[in-house]
Amino acid sequence: MTSADTLLQVNDLTVEVKGARGVGRAVDGVSFGISAGETLGVVGESGSGKSLTCLSVIRLNPKPASRIASGSIRFDGRELLELDAEGLRAYRGREIAMILQDPMTSLNPVLTIGDQIREALKLHRGLSRADETRVAEDLLARLRVPEPHRVLRSYPHELSGGMRQRVVGAIALAGRPRLLIADEPTTALDVTVQAAYLALLRKLQREEGLAILFVTHDLGAVARICDRVAVMYGGRIVESATTATFFSGAAHPYSRALLRSLPDVSKPPERLEPIPGQPPSVFAARKGCLFADRCPEVQARCRELEPPQSSVAEGHFVHCWARQP
Ligand SMILES: Nc1ncnc2c1ncn2[C@@H]1O[C@H](COP(=O)(O)OP(=O)(O)OP(=O)(O)O)[C@@H](O)[C@H]1O
Ligand SMILES: [Mg+2]
Repeated sequence: MTSADTLLQVNDLTVEVKGARGVGRAVDGVSFGISAGETLGVVGESGSGKSLTCLSVIRLNPKPASRIASGSIRFDGRELLELDAEGLRAYRGREIAMILQDPMTSLNPVLTIGDQIREALKLHRGLSRADETRVAEDLLARLRVPEPHRVLRSYPHELSGGMRQRVVGAIALAGRPRLLIADEPTTALDVTVQAAYLALLRKLQREEGLAILFVTHDLGAVARICDRVAVMYGGRIVESATTATFFSGAAHPYSRALLRSLPDVSKPPERLEPIPGQPPSVFAARKGCLFADRCPEVQARCRELEPPQSSVAEGHFVHCWARQP
């Protein structure tokens, strides 16, 4: 799907990883688009390729362990895969900001938090040093960081995991990006801080047209912030729908299983229904539907042929033999 106002358009992205067992496919023909002001949620079990997809958008995928084998990544009409390292630097942290899954890898251990936020602020705003400090404190306060002035003088190792996660968010947002790639940005946070974080993202989305690629295991966060949801399984997007449709009418058996595994606050925790079986290894043969072994609706052809994309309704796509029109 491409429309005139699509800010990021990823087409047929394939990322290979190297392991002792050879070369595997961790991202396998992934396509999606995100418009300005839109949030796309990416959900799926551990190892489904969410982080590698995000990292590959700005070519921060681990090297030499992984390689973008094919595909196209267009940002604002520019093909990012054609840019050299210097060309990419003009985008990274500026037009496109990343909140990585491991906050420590995004922080510079020898610079104070204040220096790192001020550095990001310099990219876009011609502020005085005093104003930079004020804006940095304000950003931290909005992410519910207590005593922002003290945190600005701290080094990353002096902060807790949850605090670091908020600081990484503040640095990413200080650069006023047009696209934010947020990989599990709120996992280490308690619910009130998480709510404040999501509220700030929503505000930036509305007021500044921030586009967000939001990776999470938390379907509650998806419900609160995402406009659309892409479900990944075994490196492929198996379903894509608006958030409302995803929650009310998910079509793929894997999406339905994910939704069933949602903890229901009205029931005791033993009601949790995990999905039986294991996700496929990236090194396994990629024949047919990769969910077939775990699927309650499996048919003979599922094991032979990859299910084609079918349209359930406008803006709702699924890859499943049991859902062919
Ligand atoms: N550095 C690496 N070296 C080798 N293989 C890797 C590396 N990083 C990822 N992979 C492989 O790619 C697959 C996808 O990894 P990825 O980190 O994208 O998963 P994910 O969906 O983000 O999982 P999680 O929910 O646990 O963060 C993994 O199953 C793993 O086999
Ligand atoms: Mg990940």
